[in-house]
Amino acid sequence: MVKQRTCIFISGTGSNLKSIINHSRDPNFPIKINLVLTNNKDAKGIKYAKKFSIPFKVLEYSNKKFERIALREVIGKKIKLICLAGFMKILSKNFIRNFDGKIINIHPSLLPKYKGLNTFKRVLKNNERYTGCTVHFVDEKLDNGRIILKKRVKIYNSENEQILKKKVQNEEHRIYSMAIRKIYI
Ligand code: GAR
Repeated sequence: MVKQRTCIFISGTGSNLKSIINHSRDPNFPIKINLVLTNNKDAKGIKYAKKFSIPFKVLEYSNKKFERIALREVIGKKIKLICLAGFMKILSKNFIRNFDGKIINIHPSLLPKYKGLNTFKRVLKNNERYTGCTVHFVDEKLDNGRIILKKRVKIYNSENEQILKKKVQNEEHRIYSMAIRKIYI
């Protein structure tokens, strides 16, 4: 199988990056990670790129400069898919248009509910019985594009933000790779 050349954008811990790397080592997984980009030199996830000898670039710049260099890097590496994995910058319409339908994101809620930040805090405040995570295509509106896969997680009374985050992230690590498989079926 010809694996799609992929770039992962991260800003922090990189647990989703780690999980996608693990899946991508399967010869039947549809993508190969050719590049990791981050806007944060302290992103812990950089260690996974190093560990698996994946080229990475730290682009700690303003939005405009970040995108200009990111675009150059991604085109230079002939990237066909961009996966946002805990990437905390909002990409411009212009950048998204360059990769129309080729950028996907994971979000820690059951979209379209709870777009934006602090999802766990808001979910608990509203006494929701369920939350979860969603993998979706990125379009020009925040956390808005076509949904590829969602996973629901039950919330128990005793649970706090930390516990919920852990439970949801465990599911994220499963569904991100399932969603990547799904888009290439
Ligand atoms: C993940 O929970 C992801 O859903 C969230 O950031 C976390 C990154 O974790 N993304 C967003 O909130 C995007 N709006 P990771 O760095 O360990 O993969």
